[in-house]
Amino acid sequence: MAKLKAGVLISGRGSNLLALLQACDAPDFPAEIALVVSNRAEAGGLAQAERLGVPTRVIAHGDFADREDFDRAVSAALEAAGVELVCLAGFMRIFSPWFPAYWANRILNIHPSLLPAFRGLHAPQQAIDAGVRVSGATVHLVTETLDGGPVVAQAAVPVHQDDTADMLAARILLAEHELYPLVLRWFAEGRVHLLRAPGKPDRVRIDGVAADAALLWRP
Ligand code: GAR
Repeated sequence: MAKLKAGVLISGRGSNLLALLQACDAPDFPAEIALVVSNRAEAGGLAQAERLGVPTRVIAHGDFADREDFDRAVSAALEAAGVELVCLAGFMRIFSPWFPAYWANRILNIHPSLLPAFRGLHAPQQAIDAGVRVSGATVHLVTETLDGGPVVAQAAVPVHQDDTADMLAARILLAEHELYPLVLRWFAEGRVHLLRAPGKPDRVRIDGVAADAALLWRP
């Protein structure tokens, strides 16, 4: 069967990208990464993709007059590579409304908190400042609302009393690296369904999710 073609957008280190690349390296994995796009030429993730022979593009946001022009250039590059699903992996640009509308229900993001708690920047620091005992990682569909689209999957991670933001971020990152490839697999297997009901927020249903419940708590 043909593999789902994913495009990954990054801005930096690219450890989630690497987790996705490694998952896609398995011959029986149902998705492949057709293109990695970075808005920053110095993003470490680019080298990881190149080492594995995955095509990369740098599209620098500073080269464009406004957000939508940049978004359309990114979108054109993804389409030229045959991308069917966009995965944001540490992509630190806010889209114009055009991009999530165009790719509606075909964009995922990973965020280092249990959304809807701690949206935006510095989510691990926000969790520590709030004094919560549990935080985690969320993969969600991207909508116009920042970190606000329907949740696809979450993994909970404990917050220890003496954690710094870096310690918590590192613990959450380990969960991210398991969660994102799993969600990509679910997508490629056609197990992710959007549930819409009038007057209610959209929700996601995953076929057969019970088998993956072990991921929900990552001590
Ligand atoms: C990850 O922790 C990801 O969840 C976070 O940035 C980090 C990127 O790391 N994303 C956000 O905060 C988005 N709001 P990586 O470049 O090593 O994958």
